[in-house]
Amino acid sequence: MSFTVAIDGPAAAGKGTISRAVAGRFGLAHLDTGLLYRAVGKRVLAGAAAIDAARRLTPDDLSADDLRTPDVAQAASKVAAIPEVRAALVDFQRAFARRSGGAVLDGRDIGTVICPEAEVKLFVTASPEVRAERRLKELRDGGHDTDYETVLADVRQRDARDTGRADAPLRAAEDAIVIDTSAMDIDTAVAAAIAHVSRKYGGA
Ligand code: DC
Repeated sequence: MSFTVAIDGPAAAGKGTISRAVAGRFGLAHLDTGLLYRAVGKRVLAGAAAIDAARRLTPDDLSADDLRTPDVAQAASKVAAIPEVRAALVDFQRAFARRSGGAVLDGRDIGTVICPEAEVKLFVTASPEVRAERRLKELRDGGHDTDYETVLADVRQRDARDTGRADAPLRAAEDAIVIDTSAMDIDTAVAAAIAHVSRKYGGA
């Protein structure tokens, strides 16, 4: 059986938490596709050429523990605008999506480009201010010393780049269900996502 849940949206909208919860609830494998771009971004910060780094990426690169920093996030957003980088990462993502047992993929272009045939498409979003607050808390909890204005500027800059690029820009697929988490706590957002998936997933 192949059953794909595509979850897209901007940074810090709650996609990661929702994706992990949906995968856990329905016993599906989960791929955070942002890690692919972060792993390439990290290589570029270390001096590699972006397209080459994308072509050489291996699954082991996705488990590096320093992929969550703001510098790597910005580098990821930059390499993600290069069409050859995106092209080099397509096959891995599509193979993951088709694995038997089903899969959840989260990112920016899963419902529009990577898996346009996905059985369920969710677009998880929130206002930039709410997302910046959440990201600030995550960064501080992780030991990063930063402030709200810096994080908000970072969120807006990545949104502009991810939405404005020509190749596979961030946008909701026409058949995606939009979940705006601005005024929701995470449990409510997870419950809404699980309810949508349940409607499509027989036997769950
Ligand atoms: O989801 P994230 O914050 O880890 O993603 C980091 C960057 O990678 C994001 O700013 C844009 C890019 N990205 C993308 O272009 N397409 C995806 N499917 C996932 C991430």
